[in-house]
Amino acid sequence: MAVRTILRAGNPILRERATEFEVGEIQTESTRKLVADMFETMESANGQGLAAPQIGELKRVVIVRLFRQEEYIDRVLFNPKITVIGDSKLGSWEGCLSVPGFVGYVERIRKIKLEFYNESAKKNVETVEGYDAVVYQHECDHLDGILYTDRMIDSRLFGFDDVTDTQELKALVRSSYTG
Ligand code: NI
Repeated sequence: MAVRTILRAGNPILRERATEFEVGEIQTESTRKLVADMFETMESANGQGLAAPQIGELKRVVIVRLFRQEEYIDRVLFNPKITVIGDSKLGSWEGCLSVPGFVGYVERIRKIKLEFYNESAKKNVETVEGYDAVVYQHECDHLDGILYTDRMIDSRLFGFDDVTDTQELKALVRSSYTG
């Protein structure tokens, strides 16, 4: 295992479309090594998710770390496919290991259908809502060369994470719409 270099916004690799895994490729040694490197890299950067293109591998695999009270759940998704359910949106402040030091306000679909292959190469289909749905949408976007900054609807809701008071900034920008 190795901590890999995380590509930063501006690197054209982050703008490419990653390629699908063959199902038979999922349980190979090289894939296991890639996933292990992704976890080690994510942990060393204190991230909650990572997509393979962020370490320069244009393959359709993402990892996420979902927090549940005192513990967390790690998941690996190969060839994930998202279908939106409804048009209800959920807004949140997002950050990205490829855009280090910044946060931005993004609205995404609240509820999704998520299809993917797990590490045992078994197909899974789930319905996911809320914060977890935001995480999956953010990570899967990386597989299509999309960064959260592309999804922002107001570039004023973007700033350095150690400067941005998310509550204050949002209130300020919201009031300027009507003022
Ligand atoms: Ni990201």
